[in-house]
Amino acid sequence: MVESVPPPAREIASGYALTGAAIELGALLWEGRCLPEAPIRIPLSMLNRHGLVAGATGTGKTKTLQLIAEQLSANGVPVFLADIKGDVSGISAPGQPGERVGERAAQVGQEWEARGFPAEFYGLGGIGPGIPVRATVTGFGPVLLSKVLGLNPTQEQSLGLIFHYADAKGLELVDLKDLRAVVAFLTSPEGRAELKDIGGLSAATAGVILRSVTAFEQQGAGGFFGEPEFDTSELLRTAPDGSGLVSVLELAAVQGKPQLFSTFLMWLLADLFHELPEAGDLAKPKLVFFLDEAHLLFTGASKAFLEAITQTVRLIRSKGVGVFFVTQTPKDVPSDVLAQLGNRVQHALRAFTPEDAKALKATVRTFPNSAYDLEEVLTGLGTGEAVITVLSESGAPTPVAATRLRAPQSLMGPVDAAALDAAVRESPLYERYARAVDRESAFEKLAAKAERAEPEQEKAPEPKARGGDRDDGSLVEQVVGSGVFRSLARSVGTQIGREITRSLFGTARRRR
Ligand SMILES: Nc1ncnc2c1ncn2[C@@H]1O[C@H](COP(=O)(O)OP(=O)(O)OP(=O)(O)O)[C@@H](O)[C@H]1O
Ligand SMILES: [Mg+2]
Repeated sequence: MVESVPPPAREIASGYALTGAAIELGALLWEGRCLPEAPIRIPLSMLNRHGLVAGATGTGKTKTLQLIAEQLSANGVPVFLADIKGDVSGISAPGQPGERVGERAAQVGQEWEARGFPAEFYGLGGIGPGIPVRATVTGFGPVLLSKVLGLNPTQEQSLGLIFHYADAKGLELVDLKDLRAVVAFLTSPEGRAELKDIGGLSAATAGVILRSVTAFEQQGAGGFFGEPEFDTSELLRTAPDGSGLVSVLELAAVQGKPQLFSTFLMWLLADLFHELPEAGDLAKPKLVFFLDEAHLLFTGASKAFLEAITQTVRLIRSKGVGVFFVTQTPKDVPSDVLAQLGNRVQHALRAFTPEDAKALKATVRTFPNSAYDLEEVLTGLGTGEAVITVLSESGAPTPVAATRLRAPQSLMGPVDAAALDAAVRESPLYERYARAVDRESAFEKLAAKAERAEPEQEKAPEPKARGGDRDDGSLVEQVVGSGVFRSLARSVGTQIGREITRSLFGTARRRR
């Protein structure tokens, strides 16, 4: 350790003297001075031990995420970022040199060089810019769907039974109207016997579920579910030059649907979990997944949902995936999850109100003992500074270190809309996912049969052009009421005759 570093700081710094590859976060702050000879970093091999980036508004959380993400990419690790405010797309373009960046770089001992990183932009259900990401209803599964529908525990359990029924019958729930058709059938006179067979599912609860699915569709959620279903292995790619691909999910356009997008993020993670093999501890992760505004994931979450998150986070580590939660205070994250987040970057907290003071004290308690008065330090940190503790290469927590962070080398803020659009259209994935395909599934088959059975019916349903309100409830009622559903359910069941295995979250995936 360099002589110029005072002894207590020297001790902290020695906790970050690593031998292997690392993400360089910044330089130690000690008694108001920034010490470039005392770098603070996270070992690359410990990124699958998850992390938390927290702090008040405007303190630098998103830039920290960008900083970590770009170094991961440079080290060949693919990254997934949820861009909720639309200020992360700049990671694909070189940053702008300037006085402030230069000054910061000098203070922290960073050789700053403008650089963009290979990025792919996605959007949910084709809303806003980006390659559309959709899930099938079957793939999404009952636990996540219950969360977005706002179902209570009894209803959640009942939806699980409905999925189980559809799985067993081989009924493909591709989109929301397929689910609606199945639930409508179960609540119809023809379906009553089936409903009884299922056991534990009351007609009243099925009715409530039917109404919430219908209401959900009316809010325009139809476009998020269907085919082609997004293949989460797209997130694991590297660019031709070997750097990790940064997948940015642009969510600004669906900001008003926080329950939906936060649950979709969980679906991506659950689906990855389902598909990835065990990998043990790797020299570097296969993917690091950043969940910004993570509190949204936990508000209104059921016990089943919380348990599934906790389990997924616990187990995905050995599949080589690191998960970083980004949120205002550690209190936003349930303690079972928080306990698994080994790498912590805590930006400044405010202490204006009694609630703030409480949150501050609670935050301090989540840190190991340190050489600092953390209450004082945490309220005094500047923008782009943080209190940090990570896991050392041996897996032990490093000493708590107040740190001035490096500046991202890519552009801070969004790239312009035209550049983003061009990147999306040039992507080889665009063709694969751009257009929704409404292949024949339960609903269409039923509609076609009903059409043949009832020739007096005025007009055939328009089976194409997803997104519009092309099907009406009365048709479902007719279809289901016509009595063909039952035989169809049987025939489809035997035709496919394949069992669907569901993961922790009840998510499922068809072999691709
Ligand atoms: N590491 C850094 N290097 C240089 N500038 C930074 C850094 N961190 C933060 N800043 C500056 O602070 C501003 C706010 O940072 P950022 O957007 O990351 O805050 P935030 O905590 O994500 O805010 P919000 O809660 O509103 O999303 C940035 O626009 C940038 O100018
Ligand atoms: Mg932010």
